[in-house]
Amino acid sequence: MAANGTRQLPGQLVTIERHILERQMMHPDATGDLTRVLQDVALAGKLIASHTTQAGLAEVLGTTNEINVQGEEVQKLDEISNDILFRLNDHTGRLAAMVSEEASDILHIPEKYPTGKYVLSFDPLDGSSNIDYNVSVGTIFAIHRRKTEAGPGTLEDCLQKGRDIVAAGYILYGSSTMFVYSAGNGVNGFTLDPAIGEFILSHPNIRIPTKPKYFSANLGYQRNWSDGVRRFTEWVQGEDGGPVLGLRYIGSMVADFHRTLFSGGIFYYPVNINDKNRPNGKLRLLYEVNPLSYLMEQAGGAASDGRQSPLDIQPEHLHHRTPFFVGNRELVSQAEKFIEQYG
Ligand code: AHG
Ligand code: MN
Ligand code: MN
Repeated sequence: MAANGTRQLPGQLVTIERHILERQMMHPDATGDLTRVLQDVALAGKLIASHTTQAGLAEVLGTTNEINVQGEEVQKLDEISNDILFRLNDHTGRLAAMVSEEASDILHIPEKYPTGKYVLSFDPLDGSSNIDYNVSVGTIFAIHRRKTEAGPGTLEDCLQKGRDIVAAGYILYGSSTMFVYSAGNGVNGFTLDPAIGEFILSHPNIRIPTKPKYFSANLGYQRNWSDGVRRFTEWVQGEDGGPVLGLRYIGSMVADFHRTLFSGGIFYYPVNINDKNRPNGKLRLLYEVNPLSYLMEQAGGAASDGRQSPLDIQPEHLHHRTPFFVGNRELVSQAEKFIEQYG
């Protein structure tokens, strides 16, 4: 296996199906259900990629003129991606329920189909405000084992801590399409080969570099950040003996996260202290923050809400929001220190 997320040499062609299956075979008691859920999500990724790459042609740009449960405009591609993920997974008998950014309530499995033992939570299209400008977007997902025994999935099944994730990942629709996932045994990245329609292992055993390169946050909102976050932002630019990091911010978290994972550094989206409607920031715990926190920990980095790992927060509702800091351990713990000292 190639070291540290470097590209796989030709001759070691591992498709995502093979990789997931080989990992499953390390657990002799596995039924194969988790393997198939992951494979279905990868298939959804290919279908969504085929829409995003044709966004300019296929009359899928723009909004649906609807406002979603979060009070945000629904882009057509948000809805298409949500439908693809739901319809590929509603009839397989492997899921008890689904949770989506685009739906206020639990997405139940239709009565005519059997339910299964996993819960799939997803942000069908992250960064969708960027779609119209041909900027990278992505899908983020997390999988939990259900808590209840059988029947339709309940809130108890869906409102689980990130600590209990069994697998999570994202699909990045960028200059190439990548599927990055972990099932608790390190992080692996696959690149879609459009000629054959397969995700091929391109970045095995991804680890965040120890020397950070960039910080990533929407500095346009700096006036609305707490003192601790503002001082931390000065520190990453060299104040008080801090490192001097370059700035990168795309505005699609999945793309900002992907770069942070490969370059080293920190991405953060803190609370806007003047926005009384969002006292806990913008990003959602279940299908944005937790899957990425899980991946970052698996890659040797850390995540925090400013005080503790988001993975230890008990979600109170499906669209629970939280401040988010993610990247190299030293940087995340430095952010926590500034917040502890200055608020
Ligand atoms: P989504 O498109 O799923 O609603 O998420 C958008 C999120 C996230 O991708 C990004 O980091 C953040 O919104 C950008 O927000 P700002 O424009 O406020 O920086
Ligand atoms: Mn999002
Ligand atoms: Mn979204």
